[in-house]
Amino acid sequence: MLQDLRLTIVVENSASLDNSSLYAQHGLSIFLELNFGLESMKLLWDTGASSEVMLHNADALDLDLCHLDLICLSHGHYDHTGGLMGVLQRRKGRVCILAHPDIFAPKLKERPTLQYIGAPFTRNEAEAAGAIMLDCRSPLDLAPGVMTTGEVARLEAFEKVEGFWTVKEGQYCPDCMPDDQALAINLPGKGLVVITGCAHSGIINTIRHAQKITGVEELHAVIGGFHLMGADDKRIDATAKALQNLDPAIVRPGHCTGQKAVCRLQEALGERCRPLTVGDTIQL
Ligand SMILES: [Fe+2]
Ligand SMILES: [Fe+2]
Repeated sequence: MLQDLRLTIVVENSASLDNSSLYAQHGLSIFLELNFGLESMKLLWDTGASSEVMLHNADALDLDLCHLDLICLSHGHYDHTGGLMGVLQRRKGRVCILAHPDIFAPKLKERPTLQYIGAPFTRNEAEAAGAIMLDCRSPLDLAPGVMTTGEVARLEAFEKVEGFWTVKEGQYCPDCMPDDQALAINLPGKGLVVITGCAHSGIINTIRHAQKITGVEELHAVIGGFHLMGADDKRIDATAKALQNLDPAIVRPGHCTGQKAVCRLQEALGERCRPLTVGDTIQL
């Protein structure tokens, strides 16, 4: 049974003066140490935007990337996958990478010009560097009480995916980001811990999906990107209200949440909500 877990924020958009040796970068990576009593598990959730920042920060934080048990990728965008090749070179030997098969689909955005924002490597390059790609669209148990969500059901009317594009069967079309997923952890005695990448599916959709697949209603913590950067006031307010109703003990928004949304969430949730910074450790 899971006893506790410790998260270290390896890559994040903001740095604090207390940890001035760390690099800030638009991206996200979280190192998780899960303690099951006699067993433990080291899991890397996303890899930031570049190997340089990923490895520099991991070394400065004294994190052992050589003995990772598993790497999970939340989705295919470069700011979550960009450090993978560096991690694979450091890991030595083969390591399983759990992700949705669409992380390798073309990922594009249009503003201001058409730009490629997908993974900066191919499946073949990752496999040649030691990755064992575990393609999975559905929830997967990684350890007792620890699972990936797989594709997230989109039920909330106010949570829409906009601004991303892909190419399917020769057609340029909106990318609804089916590859977006989160980690859902049942922490006995405390409740559900949800760890997101960008939460492109919507942070409330993601939490509700995690509650459904784990069967755990009580929400303890939500940590990661909430993708509210550029969202209108209506969506930010609806998110804040829904989170208030879900009543989590800990909310740590970061990366693509955006300053405006973080302020609104702090207003709604008080001291329970604190933005993420690179180098933060969270003991749960
Ligand atoms: Fe992101
Ligand atoms: Fe993203």
